[in-house]
Amino acid sequence: MNPLATIRHHFREALSQLVDDPEELVDMVRSSQDPKFGDYQVNCAMPLGKRLKRPPRQIAEEILGKLDISEICQDPEVAGPGFINLRLRDAWIEQALLAASRDDRLGIPPAKHSRTFVIDYSAPNVAKPMHVGHVRSTVIGDSLCRVLRFLGHRVISDNHIGDWGTQFGMIIHGWKHFRDEAAYRQDPVKELARLYRLVQALASYEEKVSQSARLEQSLASGKDDDEEAEKRKQAQLREWNGQLAAARENELLGPLVDAGKHEGIGEAALRETARLHAGDEENRRLWEEFLPPCREEMESIYRRLDVSFDETLGESFYHDQLAGVVEALQARGLATESDGALCVFLEGHQTPFIVRKRDGAYLYATTDLATLQYRLETWQPDEMLYVVDHRQSLHFEQLFATARQWFPEADLELRHISFGTVLGEDGRPFKTRSGDTVGLHALLDEAVARARGVLESSGEQDRPEEFLQQIAESVGIGALKYADLSQNRTSDYTFSYDKMLAMQGNTATYMQYAYARVRSIFSKGNIDEEQFRQAVSTPKITAPEERALALEILRFPEALEAVVADYRPNLLTNYLFTLAESYSRFFEHCPVLKAPEESVRDTRLLLCDLTARVLKQGLSLLGINVVERM
Ligand code: ARG
Repeated sequence: MNPLATIRHHFREALSQLVDDPEELVDMVRSSQDPKFGDYQVNCAMPLGKRLKRPPRQIAEEILGKLDISEICQDPEVAGPGFINLRLRDAWIEQALLAASRDDRLGIPPAKHSRTFVIDYSAPNVAKPMHVGHVRSTVIGDSLCRVLRFLGHRVISDNHIGDWGTQFGMIIHGWKHFRDEAAYRQDPVKELARLYRLVQALASYEEKVSQSARLEQSLASGKDDDEEAEKRKQAQLREWNGQLAAARENELLGPLVDAGKHEGIGEAALRETARLHAGDEENRRLWEEFLPPCREEMESIYRRLDVSFDETLGESFYHDQLAGVVEALQARGLATESDGALCVFLEGHQTPFIVRKRDGAYLYATTDLATLQYRLETWQPDEMLYVVDHRQSLHFEQLFATARQWFPEADLELRHISFGTVLGEDGRPFKTRSGDTVGLHALLDEAVARARGVLESSGEQDRPEEFLQQIAESVGIGALKYADLSQNRTSDYTFSYDKMLAMQGNTATYMQYAYARVRSIFSKGNIDEEQFRQAVSTPKITAPEERALALEILRFPEALEAVVADYRPNLLTNYLFTLAESYSRFFEHCPVLKAPEESVRDTRLLLCDLTARVLKQGLSLLGINVVERM
């Protein structure tokens, strides 16, 4: 039972007798911040008073006259200029607790109107280093899928991997010129990653050579009279020359540069990509050979993160639809030629959305349009969410604006679920040591190793090895996910093992520990939870700490609604943290196994059991496991 939704329902009934559009006013029913003002507070009499040009207090009384809420709340109070304060009846709370306890879904019914969502998240680029930003997308996207599914919606998770981009041209070029077959046989992904990095390094060497030549020329022409500008250019030139010298010194790059292997390499790699796209047999064969081991590498990360997808339709899946997309856009008059390229010009945008380059190549934009069309036709979703970092905001604005013109009749909501950058403790974008998937595994290993350290220092060192390792995995990976999810997603966040594994504060470790502590009460008292649940009768609240905890437990559905209102998993972590704190206060004041009477003990056990179940369910919606003992 969702108290907020129930109260809102009654206010909707009352308010619709006063106005035609009560929804905005209904939204003003909120949990109160201070128990002094009751459990829920309603401030809608003020704006309504203004609208109807009558004193708000009078309006508040009028609303109360039409409100039928006596079964749920004690007599409402009008305070100050016209605030309505509501306090739930203890009897209602007790019934709601019992109902929640008897229900597998903790009293949360699935949504009456189930919607269909396609969620696009993770989407790393094959054969290119997967970085922590992709982990952030994975963790946020996974948790949104879980919450929406729990609320009864239909969710299709689709991992739009980058498996068709220019990185393949680089790898193919690298393979043709620099491959080490023995190394490839031993560890294909590692060798491909080496080739990718090598070609990229040579290409950027080449790029820098021509950039600095241009800069030198512009300095020599002396057109820049401005002294400041000249100094800046000189400093830039020195920096680049330093980098070029360092590359020549490098024992891998140096000999290749001396042999002129960098010359034209950027172009050559692009030509390989173009050949692949045009169906060249050899390149196609190489692509087919390289893809599976790279995919397997990605899968190994997902297995550890306990994340899976309904679909993994990468960019390559849309390859032969791109020409059709461009034709359709042209036919509708949406795409027009400009300087040889095909562009969609959008109102309010200075730059156009380019869908075909001068040389005929399609772009990220074209693939995303094809993807959108495919998803629309295949699943008829009500909503599509793209969990991608904030640097791609412009791309998504333009994609959505184009899609709205392309499919004007589609009743489809498009949302970019943008997120900030993961920073290292030095305040710069976080990089794993080796900068690739190997680095990501190392990152997870480190979290697990440190979690084990925490367990051992908290007196668990004598447990069997297998037990320790299993718990360390749950605690370590859980900490990593929670640290990410507990941030406001739009902010940058600083990656810190110490903070994420702290036993106190808003961390997964604290939450898992709280869960294990609650469960230990049952084992200490030799009480079987299942049997207890079946036998328990209506609880009776006697202490204020019990009541506060009960209210918090009943707010679980409210927290989930808040998460999906703006796709913010941190509203769930905040809620769980408040619940755990409320439990701590309860536990301090209310002995459970040593309660004075059996009925008091049973009420308290019921509260303990529900707290544990909400913690477990809540964490699982974040993709985090609990451990029964810690
Ligand atoms: N592969 C892209 C990247 O790593 C992210 C793709 C996001 N999804 C999409 N439909 N564009 O930046």
